[in-house]
Amino acid sequence: MKTVLTINGQQVSLDIDTRVTLLDALRDHLGLYGSKKGCDHGQCGACTVIADGRRINSCLTLAAMHDGETIITVEGLAHGEALSALQQAFLGHDGMQCGYCTPGQLCSATAMLEEARAGRASQVTDDLTTPAPLSRAEITERMSGNLCRCGCYSGIVAAIEEVAAE
Ligand code: FES
Ligand code: FES
Repeated sequence: MKTVLTINGQQVSLDIDTRVTLLDALRDHLGLYGSKKGCDHGQCGACTVIADGRRINSCLTLAAMHDGETIITVEGLAHGEALSALQQAFLGHDGMQCGYCTPGQLCSATAMLEEARAGRASQVTDDLTTPAPLSRAEITERMSGNLCRCGCYSGIVAAIEEVAAE
């Protein structure tokens, strides 16, 4: 099936089997190896990308289902040579060790901050009428779909807290 995606600002046209996941399309068909395959079952978040502004597990969705959409992967988070604020904060707070989960963490956190700014509630939001600043509990809950085998959670949360406070 012909599938047109705009990936990190560049339009690409794929002639792709409808059974190919978005993650495999990115990695195997487009050579974008930033998004990682940790579990291939929607359990780890290493494959998280942003599709039309929404963070998704790219291993759980088919590329053809995203025809016409805008996809941002970890390769698209920096502005040229300048890292995004979150990427800088991850460096500053040692929010990684092996780095395997990091692309997913960064994409997830980038979209999560937008969700919070837009006033979207999480499971631990007390007051649904007044958006509160992102507490540590809110960040932890909202990032719970992204696992880190190296256990760098304190650095990851500290990095997100820093950017959320800006
Ligand atoms: S590889 Fe997609 S959630 Fe683990
Ligand atoms: S930094 Fe190694 S899995 Fe997260």
